[in-house]
Amino acid sequence: MNPILTNLLDDTQRLVVLTGAGMSAESGVPTFRDKQVGLWEQYDPETLASIQGWRRDRDLVWAWYMWRMALIQDKAEPNAGHKAIANLANLIQVDVFTQNTDNLHERAGSSDVVHFHGNIAQPYCEDCGEIYRDKIVMPDTEQMRVEPPRCNQCAGYVRPGVVFFGEMLPDGCIDQAANAILNADLVLVVGTSAIVHPVASLPPFAIQNAIPTVEINPNPTAFSPQATLHWGASAATALPEIYEYLAAKQA
Ligand code: OAD
Repeated sequence: MNPILTNLLDDTQRLVVLTGAGMSAESGVPTFRDKQVGLWEQYDPETLASIQGWRRDRDLVWAWYMWRMALIQDKAEPNAGHKAIANLANLIQVDVFTQNTDNLHERAGSSDVVHFHGNIAQPYCEDCGEIYRDKIVMPDTEQMRVEPPRCNQCAGYVRPGVVFFGEMLPDGCIDQAANAILNADLVLVVGTSAIVHPVASLPPFAIQNAIPTVEINPNPTAFSPQATLHWGASAATALPEIYEYLAAKQA
């Protein structure tokens, strides 16, 4: 491991981890800005994940989210990176903030995870806000268009439980992350292209406040030049190394 990082880890009692889609890539959940696969190749994420895209074509957007939901619920398991983050909490204080709408951090054992962009498994009515609890039936084969179900209360369209581009984040979550960062000894930024605001403002905020911030991403990002260190490794490779290092120190 890079000595810059081992030196930082030697002084870390409070860790903040900010994760993005790359965190779950090795669990088989595709990222947003790496090339889309299969039926979705021709669409950009801002079409499929924006409030305008949803209003323009609900059947298309619902089909895409159904496909992601099926991947997450039926196939994806937490990877070694998720597990390392959960295990780190046995050694030091760890606060996890994620842009991901899957629950792989929780399934790996992390608690109190803050989800900036909602929960894909909790669809709700776009009109009255009622959570939709009926089982969502996934089509047997991947479909490009699926009509969303209707709300049991008001018959409005049921929408994905995520924060679309163009919508506000849940109340207070950015402030909560900023406060955690100000109290942290080290911030790890894992698997995010660091371009979607307001979350993308958090790594530079950490640097501006002199909190060491290490980026773990196989590819450089817009944030890399500012990072204390860019570690060009995958989440499932790098995070277990960090856990092993700290566990060995405490043994
Ligand atoms: P992106 O798809 O924009 O970026 C994923 C990042 O993960 C890229 O920088 C990849 O290089 C990196 N990556 C790929 N595989 C990796 C691996 N195995 N380990 C570590 N890093 C890896 O995803 P986000 O930054 O999360 O928002 O995107 C931010 C938001 O834009 C998402 O939450 C979503 C999206 O539209 C909404 O849905 C509102």
